[in-house]
Amino acid sequence: MAKIIVVTSGKGGVGKTTSTAAIGAGLAMRGKKTVVIDFDVGLRNLDMIMGCERRVVFDFINVIQGDAKIKQALITDRRLENLSILPTSQTRDKDALTKEGVEKVLNELREQFDYIICDSPAGIERGAHLAMYYADEAVVVTNPEVSSVRDSDRVLGLLSAKTNRAEKGEGEVKSHLLLTRYDPARVARGEMMKVDDILEILSIPLLGIIPESTAVLKASNVGTPVTFDTKSNAGKAYEDAVSRLIGEQLEMKIQPERQGLFQRLLRRTA
Ligand SMILES: Nc1ncnc2c1ncn2[C@@H]1O[C@H](COP(=O)(O)OP(=O)(O)OP(=O)(O)O)[C@@H](O)[C@H]1O
Ligand SMILES: [Mg+2]
Repeated sequence: MAKIIVVTSGKGGVGKTTSTAAIGAGLAMRGKKTVVIDFDVGLRNLDMIMGCERRVVFDFINVIQGDAKIKQALITDRRLENLSILPTSQTRDKDALTKEGVEKVLNELREQFDYIICDSPAGIERGAHLAMYYADEAVVVTNPEVSSVRDSDRVLGLLSAKTNRAEKGEGEVKSHLLLTRYDPARVARGEMMKVDDILEILSIPLLGIIPESTAVLKASNVGTPVTFDTKSNAGKAYEDAVSRLIGEQLEMKIQPERQGLFQRLLRRTA
């Protein structure tokens, strides 16, 4: 039986889709059979980040509406056979996702996978609600800035009240904090919030700190989850976060940006 994990944030553009792809790939690299699902109907970004947009024939909405079987819509990653994606549709019809439809698809996928990772749309409306509704655990993606922390706090409220687990009294959705786009230099200058201050406000366990990194943009341009770039600081940070997600105890460290030759020479002469 798969564990269902929602990647959510409230605020837009904080790194949910990047994190869904990176965590999904990291779990698959660890031998876990994993499927990532795009709940962001209309935008459809996950298949692009995963590098399979040209292979999309049927999608999540087609399956919900009975126009395709799950098997027809699932795309297996070309690099990792453990990793699959259920892409979404570019329809403008936000009502295409229904609670019953989502439940049916998740129940079927639960039998075939170890992990189901749901990429939530931004906001706290219908799409975001459905993405978190059946989750067992949540990865709350937050940037070190006040507006993002405030939105994550609102999402934590929803996770503890408006989910299937909460409504059925089956216990809380276990929530983890994933800090992304963390820039130590900007934190030192007081332009971004400190880790401790964020933890004090949100008071959920820290899953990882993903540094602001050029490797993320490079990876998304070529359609590879950044975790495949095992030498990059962001890739390593996601790898550590995945280890913690599956229960390993690891020391929390902020991965330094890999320095180019020029920077290393500059340092040596300084
Ligand atoms: N660690 C990082 N370092 C640098 N850039 C990053 C990092 N994480 C994400 N980004 C960039 O931030 C932008 C938004 O990322 P992403 O699409 O993953 O966010 P999102 O939360 O899914 O957005 P939306 O709310 O629109 O769905 C992208 O351009 C992505 O490349
Ligand atoms: Mg997204």
